[in-house]
Amino acid sequence: MTQSYIPAPWRTQLDATLAKNIEKAPDPFMVSVLQMSTVTTDGRPANRTIGHFGYVGEKPVHATLPAYIEAQADTDPDEKTAQIKSLAALGKYRSDIFVLETHMKTKKVAQIQENSAVELCWYFPYTGEQYRLRGNMHLLSSPSQAGSKERHRILDEQLRPFCHPVDEDVSPIPFDWETLRLNRLFNEPIAFRSWYTWDYNGQRLETLSEAERARAVGQMLDCPYLGEIPTRSPEEGGGLDTQSKEFGQTQHALANFALGLLQVEEVEYFNNNPATFGRIVYVRQPKDQGNQPGHSEWAKQTMIP
Ligand SMILES: Cc1cc2nc3c(=O)[nH]c(=O)nc-3n(C[C@H](O)[C@H](O)[C@H](O)COP(=O)(O)O)c2cc1C
Repeated sequence: MTQSYIPAPWRTQLDATLAKNIEKAPDPFMVSVLQMSTVTTDGRPANRTIGHFGYVGEKPVHATLPAYIEAQADTDPDEKTAQIKSLAALGKYRSDIFVLETHMKTKKVAQIQENSAVELCWYFPYTGEQYRLRGNMHLLSSPSQAGSKERHRILDEQLRPFCHPVDEDVSPIPFDWETLRLNRLFNEPIAFRSWYTWDYNGQRLETLSEAERARAVGQMLDCPYLGEIPTRSPEEGGGLDTQSKEFGQTQHALANFALGLLQVEEVEYFNNNPATFGRIVYVRQPKDQGNQPGHSEWAKQTMIP
């Protein structure tokens, strides 16, 4: 019997704040970006803006993904079967595990690999509220990266119990971590997908060799946008056109595409309105403090603002 999903109290509050801000903002994107801090290898803070892409398990399957998985020639047949089976699980889970979508070669990825401590800071201008989410971020990268099996094992052990099927009466189809990652890239806006086909992320142009510089600039010119993969006509056998430029570019993008999965440990909320001025801290309780499997108890602390 699986434990049904009970949203963390901070999540319920954050969702309500986000909904109010989306209602008031001229464009929802304006309130769907936040700041993320990591720690550098020499112990200094590093901060940047990221997008809000929701939580683990909640993104519905992209229409092209089943055909893409079918078309993969290099995937191990057992792995492919598991991926196809798990397609039905996409969007059918709920969790409080925040998802970062990023490029494998960004500095934040190297920093998280050294030190998984992360703080997100999300300010909502239309309601004057701020949420700071603290915890440890797990990386979910391409299976071509060394150690991917071990990373999946750790995710299974540490995060999977906190992902709950929406319909708990139906025997849940388990989701597969790689399928989850693939689905996130397919759901990325076309304008951002091309970023992942550029291999020289964050490198200074002047310090590259002439050949590398030509390659770096060539990659950007070659793929300013990464559109949908074309399909073959039924006469040509149907399915995705694996010879198309977009198919190769999508495979390339997937090698650089990574997710950061944040298990939140503490949330500090600040309300900056004179009438409702206040500060609350939610702290996830240690494992042995009456928690059900896959469920966290949260202590709510009222602070002097
Ligand atoms: C509005 C906005 C949204 C962004 N969203 C993301 C994002 O979701 N993921 C990401 O990796 N970078 C995003 N960026 C770029 C980052 O802020 C940052 O410049 C880049 O990831 C490199 O950071 P790093 O080298 O410190 O890791 C965004 C930037 C802006 C201005």
